[in-house]
Amino acid sequence: MEEIHPGSFEATQERSLKLEQDLTLNPSRYRVLTGDRPTGRLHVGHLFGSIQNRVRLHKLGVTTFIVIADYQVLTDRDTFEAISENIRQLTIDYIAAGIDPDDGKTFIFPHSHVPELNQLLLPFLTLVTMAELDRNPTVKEEIQAAGLSRINAGMYTYPVHQAADILFCKGNVVPVGKDQLPHLELTRIIARRFNERFSASRAVFPEPHPLLSKAPVILGLDGGQKMSKSRNNAILLSATEDETAALIKRAKTDGDRLITFDPVKRPEVSNLLSLISLSTGRAPEEIAAKIGDGGAGTLKKTLTETLNEYLRPHRARRAELEANPDYIHQVLVNGVAKAREVASATLDEVRDAMNMRI
Ligand code: TRP
Repeated sequence: MEEIHPGSFEATQERSLKLEQDLTLNPSRYRVLTGDRPTGRLHVGHLFGSIQNRVRLHKLGVTTFIVIADYQVLTDRDTFEAISENIRQLTIDYIAAGIDPDDGKTFIFPHSHVPELNQLLLPFLTLVTMAELDRNPTVKEEIQAAGLSRINAGMYTYPVHQAADILFCKGNVVPVGKDQLPHLELTRIIARRFNERFSASRAVFPEPHPLLSKAPVILGLDGGQKMSKSRNNAILLSATEDETAALIKRAKTDGDRLITFDPVKRPEVSNLLSLISLSTGRAPEEIAAKIGDGGAGTLKKTLTETLNEYLRPHRARRAELEANPDYIHQVLVNGVAKAREVASATLDEVRDAMNMRI
């Protein structure tokens, strides 16, 4: 088997920009596949980082499958009690943010409900080596972060399962953050090896392209690390305005009263300025100049007002959706039905290619 060459990050960024242009011109050539683990509620980091990017692609008219990767939750934690509630909450936030599952082009589904997708895992596992799985840098980091003493085999193999998430619908564009690039490279290798080994005359799978998000990484309110619910530094989309105000009040800043935008030297203050910028569309430098020597108090007050105002329509939509559980259920049932139809056709092709007809 040929080796995996991830290529440089710069080259990926450049290809991502070209792809971005072609998506606008020819949306019908593309099929977007994206996904999340249902490990908790979404926060403003998700909204500004990945969800809005999806909404934008969605509005270009690209067919989009959103996989809720519930099996992946079992790789690095013991808890599973909240999975189905988290699936519902994710769906609510996608729709509240502007994803329209009734447009006939957008399908949201948990992968545990699509047996034909999961079955692709079996042939795919034979296309990669143990050494390749063992080398995956994102998996290594996750093992470290979770502090696991016993690592289950699902942890090593979930990137192959993720290839099935992407390839079952022949997704060719995958909007991702940097940490997911090793998984995408593995998916491309699996597609290539499958085609070469089983279907040399006609490719069954496309090699999907990563689309890097342009939004900056949003730090948590502690300013030191990425916003994340498990690090307790997040503003949830489902928080009330008062809860949001209280969280921002406790946010870490520094002792300098003069507010300036300097992400390297003043990460905490700059992160709050970025959040105001994302909520208002104004440049962070301009916001800093306006606050001037008003200090952290004025900065926090401005963020509380602008963020709450920005999130108000989202929160109103999510309250309506919360009150309508039958609708959310139906969205997921429809998503599963479409995913099964598409996965079933792909699995037929895959079995044919492997000479497993009966
Ligand atoms: N591993 C991704 C994450 O942790 C979630 C995911 C599962 C995913 N399947 C996917 C992302 C397919 C993109 C494509 O965020």
